[in-house]
Amino acid sequence: VNVDNSREQIALERHSPPRLIIRNSQSRILRTGNATVRRVSVFGLGYVGLATALCLANKGHLVTGIDSDERRVRQLDQGIAPFFEPKIESYLKRAIDEEYFRVTNDSSSNAESDLAYVCVGTPTKHGGGIDLSFIESAAEDIGISLRKREAYQLIVIKSTVTPGTASNVVRPILERESGKTCPTGFGLCSNPEFLREGHAIQDTEVPDRIIIGSADMNAATKLERFYSEYYGAGLAPVIMTRHENAELIKYANNAFLATKVSFINTIANIAERIPGADVTTVAKAIGLDKRIAPEFLRAGIGFGGSCLPKDLSALMAFGEEVGYNTRLLAEVQAVNREQISKPITYLKHKLNTLKGKKIAILGLAFKPETDDLREAPSISIINDLVKEEAQVTVYDPRAEMIAKSIFGSQIAYATSARESLRAANGAVLVTEWEEFTHLTPQDFLELMEDPIVFDGRRLLEPGRMREAKLQFDAIGLGRESFPVAKY
Ligand code: UGA
Repeated sequence: VNVDNSREQIALERHSPPRLIIRNSQSRILRTGNATVRRVSVFGLGYVGLATALCLANKGHLVTGIDSDERRVRQLDQGIAPFFEPKIESYLKRAIDEEYFRVTNDSSSNAESDLAYVCVGTPTKHGGGIDLSFIESAAEDIGISLRKREAYQLIVIKSTVTPGTASNVVRPILERESGKTCPTGFGLCSNPEFLREGHAIQDTEVPDRIIIGSADMNAATKLERFYSEYYGAGLAPVIMTRHENAELIKYANNAFLATKVSFINTIANIAERIPGADVTTVAKAIGLDKRIAPEFLRAGIGFGGSCLPKDLSALMAFGEEVGYNTRLLAEVQAVNREQISKPITYLKHKLNTLKGKKIAILGLAFKPETDDLREAPSISIINDLVKEEAQVTVYDPRAEMIAKSIFGSQIAYATSARESLRAANGAVLVTEWEEFTHLTPQDFLELMEDPIVFDGRRLLEPGRMREAKLQFDAIGLGRESFPVAKY
């Protein structure tokens, strides 16, 4: 059987099942397999949307990415990823070349899809809650496009939204705009995403669990079958539940991770006051307790990024809305703020004044393997240094371009870590890029004017640094010279 789809050139040939052959316009066989090919739309092509779209395309599904940002659409169409993320560019080029993935800002093309993913952003609004305007407009666009579609479509919300959003916001908009009713005209599931930046493809291909929330068993089962086929024997545990639980699970997850980080940072602050103590040993030991687990126990100058800080504020605002004071989360946030300010406290203690002092900042991104600077501790550290009239030189292997758009000529940009250290009066390691592990105590001693080094991510080996007579301090390292903070 030949099935012509609207992309004309691609023919799906199903011989005696389960054989499936997909050819491109030149009749070249691109994929063979035994899975059912679906037409899928993905609304919002950020980290979650793009990773979802490309992983589905990589499995042979025909994916249309829909984004309102015309520049992003043009870039993606040319195979250019809008951000740095391992594997994204190679997946993108392949999917575009092989015609599994097309990008558009025309949401009416959603009418052709069996499945529509909503992956648009939910930014923080004043007061800490989330701004649902992108969700609302994606729901409107999907609803309008469904007027032209007779067949059932399954709509899946991957965006992070507070409990009640699918049932009370998305579903009414879809019904109003499409003229159809849920669950007969279309299905609606919540399917929160747990991918980490820097591992977006890997986490999408190998999730540790799949959460499916719905008010309708039929829709939930359809999505579960789709994932069973997608992952085969590698299918992770699936939790099927109500929309509201699925929505809350996502917030609980990120709030717990943030709590773990602020917890270990609390222990780090105690360890700093004990000569000879080291939080990394304490973290390793408690992480071996199965009830605690080793991940997210790296002490540092605080968590950043587009998710943990935002989701924490959103959950706090939501708690308030439903009449609960989330005081535990308020402390998690306060501890994090304190961590971010530590390099400044340290440098001021060491140098008396920062005015005119040359400070090297090693790393800008909120974590390694990304060029993302959203809520990165580096931003607040640099802003404080600039306010104190320090001369700041930064180096980051990936985030320089984005940093230039934020700081412009207020600071200097080095092309290597060693270059940033030249003639510096102090250095702070802000992001734990692997290449910084190659810096030796000699580099700091020879290049810096005053070899004062603060390791904000526990990347450098303290024994080597202190033996070399550097003035070296680090988060959670029993003090040699670390100031006893006032807080
Ligand atoms: C986070 C979650 O880890 C993902 O599961 C979730 O899907 C994602 O948010 C999201 O909501 O979309 P991400 O923001 O990419 O992912 O970053 P993380 O790897 O969680 O790191 C967050 C911050 O915590 C970073 O600044 C990192 O440096 C810091 N961190 C992490 C620590 O300070 N210590 C640790 O032990 C771990």
